[in-house]
Amino acid sequence: MSNDALIAVKPEIAAHALVNAERFRAMTEAAARDPEGFWKQEASRIAWITPPTKIKNVDFNGDVAIRWYEDGVLNASVSCLDRHLATKGDQVAILWEGDNPNSDARVTYKDLHAKVCRLANALRKLGVKKGDRVCIYLPMIVEAAVAMLACARVGAIHSIVFGGFSPDSLASRIQDSACSVLITADEGRRGGRTVPLKANADDALATCPSISHVIVVKNTGGQVAMQAGRDHWYEAITTGEPAECPPEPMGAEDPLFILYTSGSTGKPKGVLHTTGGYMVWASYTHELVFDYRPGEIYWCTADVGWVTGHTYIVYGPLANGATTLMFEGVPNYPSVSRFWEVVDKHQVNIFYTAPTAIRALMRDGEAPVKKANRKSLRILGSVGEPINPEAWLWYYRTVGDERCPIVDTWWQTETGGILISPLPGAIAQKPGSATLPLPGVKPALVDAEGKILEGVAEGNLVLLDSWPGQMRTIYGDHARFGQTYFSTFKGMYFTGDGARRDADGYYWITGRVDDVINVSGHRMGTAEIESALVAHPKVAEAAVVGMPHELKGQGIYCYVTLKTGEEPTEALRKELVAWVRKEIGPIASPDAIQWAPGLPKTRSGKIMRRILRKIAANETDSLGDTSTLADPAVVEELVANRVG
Ligand code: WT7
Repeated sequence: MSNDALIAVKPEIAAHALVNAERFRAMTEAAARDPEGFWKQEASRIAWITPPTKIKNVDFNGDVAIRWYEDGVLNASVSCLDRHLATKGDQVAILWEGDNPNSDARVTYKDLHAKVCRLANALRKLGVKKGDRVCIYLPMIVEAAVAMLACARVGAIHSIVFGGFSPDSLASRIQDSACSVLITADEGRRGGRTVPLKANADDALATCPSISHVIVVKNTGGQVAMQAGRDHWYEAITTGEPAECPPEPMGAEDPLFILYTSGSTGKPKGVLHTTGGYMVWASYTHELVFDYRPGEIYWCTADVGWVTGHTYIVYGPLANGATTLMFEGVPNYPSVSRFWEVVDKHQVNIFYTAPTAIRALMRDGEAPVKKANRKSLRILGSVGEPINPEAWLWYYRTVGDERCPIVDTWWQTETGGILISPLPGAIAQKPGSATLPLPGVKPALVDAEGKILEGVAEGNLVLLDSWPGQMRTIYGDHARFGQTYFSTFKGMYFTGDGARRDADGYYWITGRVDDVINVSGHRMGTAEIESALVAHPKVAEAAVVGMPHELKGQGIYCYVTLKTGEEPTEALRKELVAWVRKEIGPIASPDAIQWAPGLPKTRSGKIMRRILRKIAANETDSLGDTSTLADPAVVEELVANRVG
């Protein structure tokens, strides 16, 4: 896209913005000239028991060691709660909007502090201590944020598992980090339906001997089994606890949380974030990118089961003393106007959602949007996957009435928070571009050999240096951490994304270059779906690739080879779809299954995914070189019988 497509910074935003163009340049220069000085100063945005004197200690080579603020001591919950009590005790911290439009709740900073302390005291009574792992499997209710902060209060490491994951997925995550406590609810609510969380948890716990206590929030009141000695009602163990709880002093590099995410190989990895650097990053990016101003209502529509919910529903906004809206529901229930009705109802100023939601709502046209007033909106955000210019422009024109800048924020579970994004008062926008790195962030593009490309270029997106919010390790497997992120290009952090940079230095993320696919903003490893498929007794072999999908960004396309004698029927196709949903969760539902008598393999037996991706995308006239295939006829068969 040419320069003509630049959408200039709005003077009314720039005039009051925390960061205007001049300040952006000054910050970028300061961070480059004296990184330690810059990050030392930014550290003061959070509360410390002992402020750090050692700022940065990073080595991307060898065993890879990443440390920020290492001699600092703090407790994350104090930055989010205690320090706001004197000035903002009666301000709403969490504005909760239920799935049912008639249910909502307002939790002030004072209330939230008390709730967190009560649960923290209860956790301590159950024996939870600093460094213990606590799994959280909750719907989007206030208790989810309370549980996170209560873990932080006592120094326990929380590991949230998205409520849409299956019992098996929950079990493998609990096992990997040997959690001792699970916090869940009877049931969740979404789009008028219920999700059987406690029943799923009971299934999972059959194979999780590390769990000694389960805390159950009574949410819907649905009937659930309670196991005496192990299971406790949340109400029962928190009522009666004092509303004060001394925070555990944590080293800056003590872990705050683990969050599992998919990679190109093997099982999901436990991304580990630590306390000091992560909190600085959450606060810094939330304030700059959303130009957050005191008193504003801020709404991120993510689920706390994903990193977006961690950083931009809970830790970032609360560290900054914001009012954060937490939404239990979905964009199309009870109607496709729901988002905009909530915006009007709560006078939301900043709204942050995913391209997949925008594309889905676009299909229903302007009317459901225009029916709401939306005048309170000031800034719009996008996250999770590349936003196509068409969706960007619809968001800009139809939702924001061309009044609100859009921040297209690029980041990952691993990065802890936003790295590349326009700042609304400083950077002109281009529909579909995440624009420029935040001050202090050093992206680069490299070719396949790791050579840094200058100027206008397209290549692999890497980060040349660390930032405080960077993940520190893969829980329990530091060797895999080095292998996954620092071995492809020596001395650099490899994101797994491809990108191009235009003449203005703007970044355009083109998507994953590894075997990770992005389905409706949910990241999935094709290897995980393949293992689920081959676990079915009738499946001999499977290969899974992403295919372009109008709403989801990418859909899941599966090539399945059945065992000898098995018939490829429509009933079996349905059974396999249901099987994958049960094994992993509904977000992993295959969109297409093609019966494959054979898969294209090299003579050494490696599946040629490049060809499978082309067939799935229906780009069969550009299959490229197939001469290294063991049996080229396999490809003709697959092309002839592609589905969809
Ligand atoms: C992957 C990370 C970022 C938090 C939620 C997802 C893709 C994310 C963008 C964007 C283009 C994006 C990348 C990245 N991605 N944001 N604004 N533009 N692509 O976190 O599950 O760790 O996924 O999401 O491919 O690597 P995640």
